Amino acid sequence: GRKHKVTVIGSGNWGTTVTKLVAENTRDHPDVFERDVQMWVYEENVTIPKDSPHYDAAIGDQPQKLTSIINKYHENVKYLPNIALPPNVIANPSLPDAVKDSTILIFNFPHEFIGNICKQMKGHVLPYARGISCIKGVTVTEDNEIELLCEYIGDTLGIYCGALSGANIAIEIANEEWCETTIAYNTPPCDLRGGANGNSAPSNGADHDHKDARGLVSKTKLTPVPADYPPLDHDEFQKLFGRPYFTVSMVSDVVGVSLGGALKNIVAIACGFVEGNGWNNTAKTAVMRRGMLEIIAFGREFFPETIQEKTFWEESAGWGDMIVSCTSARNWRYSKMAVERGVTVQEIERTELNGQKLQGISTTREVCGFLRARGVESKYPLFFAVDGILDGKVKVEDIPKLFRK
Ligand code: NAD
Ligand code: 13P
Repeated sequence: GRKHKVTVIGSGNWGTTVTKLVAENTRDHPDVFERDVQMWVYEENVTIPKDSPHYDAAIGDQPQKLTSIINKYHENVKYLPNIALPPNVIANPSLPDAVKDSTILIFNFPHEFIGNICKQMKGHVLPYARGISCIKGVTVTEDNEIELLCEYIGDTLGIYCGALSGANIAIEIANEEWCETTIAYNTPPCDLRGGANGNSAPSNGADHDHKDARGLVSKTKLTPVPADYPPLDHDEFQKLFGRPYFTVSMVSDVVGVSLGGALKNIVAIACGFVEGNGWNNTAKTAVMRRGMLEIIAFGREFFPETIQEKTFWEESAGWGDMIVSCTSARNWRYSKMAVERGVTVQEIERTELNGQKLQGISTTREVCGFLRARGVESKYPLFFAVDGILDGKVKVEDIPKLFRK
């Protein structure tokens, strides 16, 4: 039989880290996966600094293509420096070529690029490919509907796509420190082979329907994974993502996992603001607690049929991600720095992040724009406080007032 070919689309701080751990697993499970993992890189020219072990005097300060550097030195010197990548990671600047013949597509780039990237992928993806989105964010459609990124991907490419999210700081996982994550994947009925994971109904591929995140039959009809490939179910995703230093919990709640990862970035910015303002952990805890209530309220309001609140309490993608994001992630760290320096967060993103992106700024804009259009601002005071502070219209010290009844 054939084996699953894996492509990671994206090669930033988290994209490169996930590629590393996935490539370790394709190497360790040769019965299920092809060994080489393609990593699509948004090509750019990079100069290797003099103090780098990869500095080559013959090349000097001349910029080199990031893909060439990664394939030569097995290191993403710009977005994940000083971490050795397995040699079976293949950096590829061409999106159509990187996804060609791949049955597993892992989406891992800042969410603002999703429209453009999916557009370029269309027509180049196997009809029976399956996706996992590691991206934290949401999209708002032209007719002002909220859409989960994994659903946007699935509907745009005509495939099924699940979501991976958790309390995950890329560099810690790249250094193989232990952490947990959550993967939400609803194995489509047409892919069930019978027996595995208690899924007893063997499928002859007749049912090409699957349920969307609102519990309705999705408009995307699926092509089943051909029978000469290993099945693609929870066990296989455990094999692909689980490492001794990366504990994976498989669930079916794509809504909880996706919203937890997306919306906590708004709360992390609020925590950065509060701490930058000189307040301490008690104020931050108030922000986190109220932020979680707004996340759950959001899920209840817009995904009432499918929301599983226990995901927020029990999974890494819920409270786990909230805690780590408000104490050590980039959205928190750089919002705090912005207040301390008296400049905008956008300015800090431009000057301090070396090309890395803060997802919380655009997520706040998108989510608050969506909520404003529906006239429900008063239910989400913390989200709107962040929006107002980003606009310069609200002061950090006014946050407590916004909660007064
Ligand atoms: P990043 O912040 O390192 O962003 C840089 C990436 O954006 C680079 O790969 C760059 O090539 C790419 N890029 C820049 N301009 C582009 C363009 N015009 N088109 C396409 N790509 C472009 O990215 P990341 O840390 O890998 O984050 C990816 C996703 O993973 C985000 O949604 C983030 O929230 C999530 N995430 C990140 C972490 C983390 O610790 N870094 C952890 C968990 C989840
Ligand atoms: P930042 O993008 O703010 O670094 O968040 C990383 C993350 O998602 C932690 O789980």
